[in-house]
Amino acid sequence: MCGIVGYVGEQPALDVVMQGLRRLEYRGYDSAGVAVLDPGTHALNVARKAGKLANLDAELAETELPGSLGIGHTRWATHGAPTDRNAHPHRDCSGAVAVVHNGTLENFAELRDGLTERGHHLASDTDTEAVAHLIEERYDAAGTGADLAAAVRAVAKELDGSFVLVVAHRDQPDLVVGARRNLPLVIGLGDGENFLASDVTAFIAYTREARAVDQDQVVELRREGVRVTDLDGNEVAGDTYHVDWDTAAAEKAGYEYFMLKEIEEQPEAVAETIGGRLGRDGRLRLDELAISDEDIRGFHQVVIVACGSSYHSGLVGKYAIERWTRLPTQVEIASEFRYRDPVVGRDTLVIAISQSGETADTLEALRHARQQGAWVMAVTNTVGSSIARESDAVFYTRSGPEIAVASTKAVMTQLAAVYLVGLHLAQVRGTRDGDEVRSHYADLAAIPDLIAETLTRMDPMRKVAREISAAERVLFLGRHVGYPMALEGALKLKELAYVSAEGFPAGEIKHGPIALIEQGTPVVVLATRHALAPKLVTNVQEIKARGARTIVIATDGDESATPYADDLIRIPDTKSLLSPLLTLVPMQVFSAEFAMARGLDVDQPRNLAKSVTVE
Ligand code: F6R
Repeated sequence: MCGIVGYVGEQPALDVVMQGLRRLEYRGYDSAGVAVLDPGTHALNVARKAGKLANLDAELAETELPGSLGIGHTRWATHGAPTDRNAHPHRDCSGAVAVVHNGTLENFAELRDGLTERGHHLASDTDTEAVAHLIEERYDAAGTGADLAAAVRAVAKELDGSFVLVVAHRDQPDLVVGARRNLPLVIGLGDGENFLASDVTAFIAYTREARAVDQDQVVELRREGVRVTDLDGNEVAGDTYHVDWDTAAAEKAGYEYFMLKEIEEQPEAVAETIGGRLGRDGRLRLDELAISDEDIRGFHQVVIVACGSSYHSGLVGKYAIERWTRLPTQVEIASEFRYRDPVVGRDTLVIAISQSGETADTLEALRHARQQGAWVMAVTNTVGSSIARESDAVFYTRSGPEIAVASTKAVMTQLAAVYLVGLHLAQVRGTRDGDEVRSHYADLAAIPDLIAETLTRMDPMRKVAREISAAERVLFLGRHVGYPMALEGALKLKELAYVSAEGFPAGEIKHGPIALIEQGTPVVVLATRHALAPKLVTNVQEIKARGARTIVIATDGDESATPYADDLIRIPDTKSLLSPLLTLVPMQVFSAEFAMARGLDVDQPRNLAKSVTVE
C-alpha cells in the first residue's frame, strides 16, 4: 500500500530512488513520483505521473533531476483518484517542502479546512498535501535555523490515522526526515549514504544493514549518520540487523513474471522454513517462539486471525492443530474478529498470520487480542514488521522476498509453519508422543522434494487453463483440508484473471451451488486421497452428470475419480493432512496460466496492492 523511498548520499539520487521504486512497485502502481534537491539552484524538482512507474520513467527520459538527495513514492490510491495531480510528492505553497506519504489521515478534512482558512492553496485531492502545508507553517514559524525534524514531529502529533512520511526541504541539503505510525519504515545504513524505505528490497542493492523504525518515531537521515527520536525529540536506541538475502532474490531471474519465479522457488522456501528444527535430543525445536512450556500447557483455545490467502493457511492450521493438540481452534478473518468483541483471554493463543507483517486488519486484531490478555504469536515473512514487533512470539517463514502481488511461496511457507506450530504445541502439551512428532516432522521434511516433483507435472494444468481461459465462471471444490485450498484456488483466479470464481466444500454443493453448473462450467476438484475421498467422488459424479467440465486433482495411484475426470492432474502421494502443501501448486499454476492466456499482468493485478495497510 504505497511504497516510499528516501535517499541522501553521494550518488545521483534519481537513480537510487527510481531503483528503489521499481522494487516497491508491487505495493501500489496507481501513480509514481520523485523529488530531488538540486544542489546548484536549491530547488526541489518534482516529477510525477499517473499509472505505473513506466509512465514516470518515460517522463523522466526528457528531464534532468540532478542532486544526491531525493524522495520517491509509488501509490495505491486512497484519498483522491489516481491522477497526475494526486501523485506524490506533494508540496507546500512555495515548493520548499516535498512530502511522500503512505497511509490515510482520518482528520484530513479538518486539517485541510484549517489550512484553507489560513490562506493555503491546496492543489490536489489528497490527505498528504495537508501535511506539506502543515510542515511549511511549523518550519516557517520557527524562523532562521528552523529544525525540519522538529516541524515533522509537531505535525505528526496533529495527525490521526496511519502514516509513514518522508520529507525533504529545499533549505536542508543534507537531511531527509521520516516519521511512522502503524505502517512500515526501515532505515538502510550505508557508508556515506543512508536510505529510508517501506521495505528493505528498495535499498538491498546498496546495503544489507537495516534498522526498523518503531511506532511514533522520527528519523533524521544524513549522509554521515542517522538519528531517531520519539515525537518529543528524545533520542531512542534501536537494533540494527543484517538482511540475509540479496538483490538476486528480488530479481526476476529470467522469468516473465515474479509470480512464476516465486512458484518455482517453493521447494527451497519450504526447505528453509522447516529445515533444522529437530534438536539432538530428537525433539522438535522452535526456539524462536519464546512462549514457555508452562504457558503453552495453560492454553485452552487457539484463535487464528489473518486475511486473504493467509486466512486460508490459517484454515489448514485449524485441521492440524485440532488433530494433534485437541485444542479447540477457530480461524477468523482479522477484520471481522476485531469488531465483534471476541472471547479471548490469558488462556488463548492467538496466531496472527501475515506475509507482509503489516496488514492493518491483522495488526488491529492482534492488538485487540493482547489488550484482552491473550498470547499472540505472529507467523510472518517479514523481519522487523509491525506484526512481528507487536507479538509475544514470532515464527518467521523463510520464503525470501515475495514481489508478485498474489501470494504464492509465502502462503506455502505459512502452511509449513502452521504444521510446525501444531506439532510444537502437541509436543509440549504431550498430546503426541516423541515418535509421532518425529514421524510427522519426517513427512514434512520430505515435502520440498514432493513440491519439486509436483512442479514438473504442471503442463496438463497449464493446458487446461489456456483451453478454458474464456470462461467467466470457475468453481473449486474440496473437502477437509482440500476445502481451504479450493478457497485459495478461487481467490487466486479472481484476483489474477478477474473472473467470478468460488470455492465450496464439496459436500455443500447440493445445498445450492450446484445450480450454477451448466453445460461446460469448469469445476476444479481437489480429489486427493483421504478418508472422505469416496464421498468426494460422489460429488464429482453429481456435477459431471449436470454437464460440468471436471478438472480433477488426484493422488498418484488413486483411480477412484478417473472415470469422471475430463482433465486429470496427478500429484505425488503424501499424508492426507499435509496434502495442501502439494495441491496449492496446481491452484497457483492454473490461475497464473489462465490470467496470462487472457493477456493480463499477473504480477500487478488491477486494484490490488501487496501490503494492505488500511482497514
Ligand atoms: C492473495 C493475497 C492476499 C493476502 C492478504 C493478506 O494472493 O496475497 O489475499 O494474502 O492481503 O496479506 P498478508 O499475508 O501480508 O497479511
